[in-house]
Parts: sequence; structure tokens; C-alpha cells
Amino acid sequence: MAHPRIQWWDWVEFVSLGGMVHSIQRTMSVFGRGITSSLFLLAVSALLVGCGGDSGGEGAEVEATPEPVRTVSFVNEVAPILITHCGPCHIAEAKGDLSFANYSILMQGTLANGAVILPGFADRSSLVTLVDEGEMPKKGGPLSASEKSKLRIWVDEGAFFDGADQGFGLEGLTGMEVPVLPAE
Ligand code: HEC
Repeated sequence: MAHPRIQWWDWVEFVSLGGMVHSIQRTMSVFGRGITSSLFLLAVSALLVGCGGDSGGEGAEVEATPEPVRTVSFVNEVAPILITHCGPCHIAEAKGDLSFANYSILMQGTLANGAVILPGFADRSSLVTLVDEGEMPKKGGPLSASEKSKLRIWVDEGAFFDGADQGFGLEGLTGMEVPVLPAE
């Protein structure tokens, strides 16, 4: 009558087997999640490294950009124009608190209005615009078209200094002398 086919040890076996399967499943899923997140991190870092590599490449390209074009020389072309047309008021004197005594002072502009040269931007440099509009030189006649365009190009090209010492007086730099303004 009794069919003791399932004994208590059978239950133990059954339960522990179930527990084992369960813990294997858990381990797998934890492991799986670990793998997934590791892969995710790996992908993200690969992406980041990739970007870094790319920007490094771009940086290298920027560094490889050739020198900017410089067709107008400050020492040979711009300084002589400033000495001849502006020297009486802005080298021999500092009319309007503006001195072209040397390159570094020229680049300082005036206390009140600041720089008169914005390297790369002739249209925003009063040294160029006032000359173009005929406001400067205040006396002594306007600059020729070629002189005006040299000033403009020099500023647009970055207003670079091609001498040895930016503090060296323009007269010494060029071997020229500031003319005396003709008496009125
Ligand atoms: C006869 C004297 C005289 C000559 C020459 C002269 N300037 Fe001036 N400049 C002045 C005076 C004075 C001022 C002050 C503002 C004014 O009175 O218009 C001035 C002001 C300026 C300013 C404006 C400064 C500021 O406040 O931002 C610029 C730029 C300038 N001169 C450039 C030149 C240039 C470039 C030349 C030569 C091409 C030149 N000047 C020749 C007398 C002169």
C-alpha cells in the first residue's frame, strides 16, 4: 500500500540540486552582467582613446600648417612710411598720446583708446582706418595708394616684427631720420 518512492533524502537531493542550479544561474547572470559592463567600459574607453587619437592627429595637422604669408616687411616698408608721414608728430613727439618711437610702443597705442593696431584686422585698426579715411596724417598730405595698401596688408598679415629688437627706435632700425614738418 505504501509507496515510499520519494524518501526524505530524495527531497534533500532535489532541493540541493535546485539550489545549485539557482546559484549557477545567479553566478552566470552576475558574470554576464560583469561581462556586459566590462565590454561597455571597454567600448567607451576605446571610443575615448579613438577620439584622443583623432584630435592628436588634428593637432599634428595644425602644427604642420605652413607659416603665415608675410609679404610686407615692417623694417623695410612699414617703418619708413611711419617715419616719413607720421614721424614729426608720433616719433619726434607723441601727439594724441600716441608714439611710434619703437615697435613695442607703437603696439601699445594710447592710454585713452588702447591699441591702434589689431593684428590680423586692418579694418578694426585705427592706424589703418584713419589713414584710409584721410584723417591721418593730420598734416603733410595723404599717403599714396601703395603706401596705404602696405599698411593694410602688414596689419592683416599679423603686424609682425621682422627686426632684431622690438624696443629699438624706428630711426635706428631703418637708418632713416624723421623729417621736419614744413612750416605753415
Ligand atoms: C601733424 C601731426 C600729425 C601727423 C603727421 C600724424 N598724426 Fe596721428 N595724430 C595727431 C594728433 C594731434 C592726434 C590726436 C587726435 C586728433 O587730434 O585728431 C593723432 C591721433 C592719431 C591716432 C588715433 C590715436 C587714438 O587715440 O586712438 C592714430 C591712429 C594716428 N594718429 C595715426 C597716425 C598715422 C598712422 C600717421 C602717419 C600716417 C599720423 N597719425 C600722422 C597728429 C598727427
